[in-house]
Amino acid sequence: MIPSLGIETALAVAVFVILTCFGLLRGQLSRWRDLPPGPPPFPILGDIPQITLEFPEKCFAQWRKKYGDVIFLKMFNTPVLVINSITAARELLDKRSAIYSDRPYSVLNLELLGWEHDFGIIPYNEELCRHRRWMYQPFFSKTSLAAIADVQRNEAMTLLMALLREPIKFESHIHRYAASSLLQYVYGHRVESDDDEYLHIIETALDETMSSAAPGAALVDFLPFLKHIPAWLPGAGFKRRALKAKKTVREAARRTYALAMNKIKEDCMNEAVLPSLIKKASANGTLEAEQPEIMMFGLTLYGAATDTTQTVIRVFVLAMVLYPDAFTKAQEELDRVIGCDRLPTVEDRHALPYLECVLKETFRFSCPGPLGVPHATSENDEYRGYCIPKGTTILPNLWLMSHDAEVYPDPETFRPERFDGVHANQEDPRNIVFGFGRRICPGRRFADSSVWQAMANITATFDIRKARDVRGDEITPAGTFASGLINHPHKFQCSITHRSGQAAALILGDRR
Ligand code: HEM
Repeated sequence: MIPSLGIETALAVAVFVILTCFGLLRGQLSRWRDLPPGPPPFPILGDIPQITLEFPEKCFAQWRKKYGDVIFLKMFNTPVLVINSITAARELLDKRSAIYSDRPYSVLNLELLGWEHDFGIIPYNEELCRHRRWMYQPFFSKTSLAAIADVQRNEAMTLLMALLREPIKFESHIHRYAASSLLQYVYGHRVESDDDEYLHIIETALDETMSSAAPGAALVDFLPFLKHIPAWLPGAGFKRRALKAKKTVREAARRTYALAMNKIKEDCMNEAVLPSLIKKASANGTLEAEQPEIMMFGLTLYGAATDTTQTVIRVFVLAMVLYPDAFTKAQEELDRVIGCDRLPTVEDRHALPYLECVLKETFRFSCPGPLGVPHATSENDEYRGYCIPKGTTILPNLWLMSHDAEVYPDPETFRPERFDGVHANQEDPRNIVFGFGRRICPGRRFADSSVWQAMANITATFDIRKARDVRGDEITPAGTFASGLINHPHKFQCSITHRSGQAAALILGDRR
């Protein structure tokens, strides 16, 4: 039975409830007012007109002087937080990873382009955790690191051979090296030439995806109702391109899955990542349910691995042309430690500290993904007294973190010595360029080892110098980069020649 209340008590309760609600509402409103500092947004477009399309990371870096290391922006109605320091990245993305590990929802990629099982872009959910678990054994266990090194060493030998034969095409050889290392390890498939059918279908799918995701088309991520526009309407070109790309992505997924199935049937290379995964799912009776995810798993890895890795290796070559002293020093170390009658292997890595500094500096200097991959918050949060709303897109400015003059003095100069000797405790850029928290790059060990194998073997056997023009004058590369998701160096020329007859013999002889 509900006890009857006196009129005064009822009034008091009513006033209490109203005041409480009002207080909560006020609290809520003032919380939203307490957003981190940032440039004042324009109506409707928010801060979009103020962000430079070219190198937005440098625009955000400029804003740090005015607004600090966490900057709040609006892109249309989407709240965005730019993280401009390692400290803030660690405090938010690492320490509060339970609520900073989502990804912003992308209608374009997840619905229109067919990447709905790409675990690099899906939200933080069970599927994501499953895919990250699939990574663990083949990419982190002790035995797997040796297997990775084996595959990469073989691929590095092919890279050396190609450089010996056609040094002018060094960019294409480096691309083949990165692509084949991944396809060999994941599918058990070697890429012998640029005409490889699997390389072709995957690269076409990625190219079509990238051109469909040009800034105009990305509008649909901010204004999702645009996805309903019929593809035949004038102005709906983004939708027609997306439909075409989706077909190619599906075809690439189907063909590469069939490739993995064939490896199982033929009983060859079936210890590779995808055949192993299929066999395991089949044994567990989960294959039917997991097949669409497994199909996209390999493509996701290829997309995340190849362009990033080849970019770092190309930047290494560029840096060696522009900073010959660093190259000479690395060669001297290799000669002293390894000698000239064999090639370096991962077992030598610990004995080559200067090469390790060159590797760190290459990662820092190139910072392959200047703004990383955006995270998103899954809850409201409070940081340094500011409110960070649920659903905020988080942009970690990895470029600024790795070019921060307070951490890395004279950041635009390639100087491996900043990590040498007494500076050995300097912040390792590999703790920055692979991202943070629960979404940190799961391919980072594979990438690190891939870059090391290429660097060590090239340095041991080749001289890299400035190319000369027809008059015999040296051509100095501009050393500039193109703006984009990946920090590609602009095309450049250089001269790559084998160091000696002995080096050439090593390359030709070392076909294990
Ligand atoms: C130099 C090479 C590479 C760089 C610089 C790089 C960098 C990154 C970065 C910055 C992220 C986002 C991390 C975050 O959200 O905080 C990422 C994610 C990812 N990377 Fe890499 N990566 C490289 C190579 C690789 C390789 C070799 C693989 C696979 C073998 C790979 C697989 C992935 C995947 C699957 C994700 C998405 C993870 C997730 O969303 O949970 N990456 N990478």
